[in-house]
Amino acid sequence: MNKNSIPNHIAIIMDGNGRWALKRGKNRLFGHRAGVESIKKTIMACLDLNIKIMSIFAFSTENWKRPKEEVDGIFSLVDKLTQSDIDLFVKNGITVRTMGDLTKLPEGLQNSINSLKEQTKNNTKLILNIALNYGGRAEIVRAVNNIIKTNKTDINEDDIKNNLYTFDLPDPDLIIRTSGENRISNFMLFQCAYSEFYFPKIHWPDFNKKQLKKAIKIYQKRNRRFGGLK
Ligand code: IPE
Ligand code: IPE
Ligand code: MG
Repeated sequence: MNKNSIPNHIAIIMDGNGRWALKRGKNRLFGHRAGVESIKKTIMACLDLNIKIMSIFAFSTENWKRPKEEVDGIFSLVDKLTQSDIDLFVKNGITVRTMGDLTKLPEGLQNSINSLKEQTKNNTKLILNIALNYGGRAEIVRAVNNIIKTNKTDINEDDIKNNLYTFDLPDPDLIIRTSGENRISNFMLFQCAYSEFYFPKIHWPDFNKKQLKKAIKIYQKRNRRFGGLK
């Protein structure tokens, strides 16, 4: 791994928690719980490797289709992460931010997330961008609606970009999706235009620093041309 060309922004579709658990004869929530441990490990690995932005897909606008018990279970795990692990973010200089419509989440969770965002807003080491009740299509529609409110009629790419949740962030350099599925599932649709993709077969609870380094090595072998010649 070349320490001089570390991707600036890594985005992760953390998939496979359910299958990981079922393979072990456990329920799906057991997998989500293990998935939280992988999140923490990967955050520490990003800090160590000097990655500046890590976006994670925690709950999609389509995940409401799942049984209420699973949805509530996921929310309570996020709540736990944002409340009892405050030190992890504060001590390590991590800024927590989110993308997605938080107003549909349980009120307690909204409060703990907002408080964590406030407490970490001046940190500078790593931005952890959590996609919660997030969909790429919904994000673009929201951007367009924001622009309409300004009475603008001739919309350009920068107008859209400036109204995304990630208006002030660079696009992801590398998008990782675990679990062997080769699809985007409505994640960062506008931002992924020139991202490199990597689809490891392992399930998210098995992801760790070694896996992250492997992903970066593969990324470093890619030839990014952005439509030009190189
Ligand atoms: C990803 O794991 C986590 C969330 C969607 C919250 P899944 O729950 O989708 O696990 P699989 O894909 O069913 O194995
Ligand atoms: C994508 O995974 C969403 C998250 C990781 C939060 P899904 O498991 O929901 O995606 P599909 O249904 O396999 O496309
Ligand atoms: Mg899945």
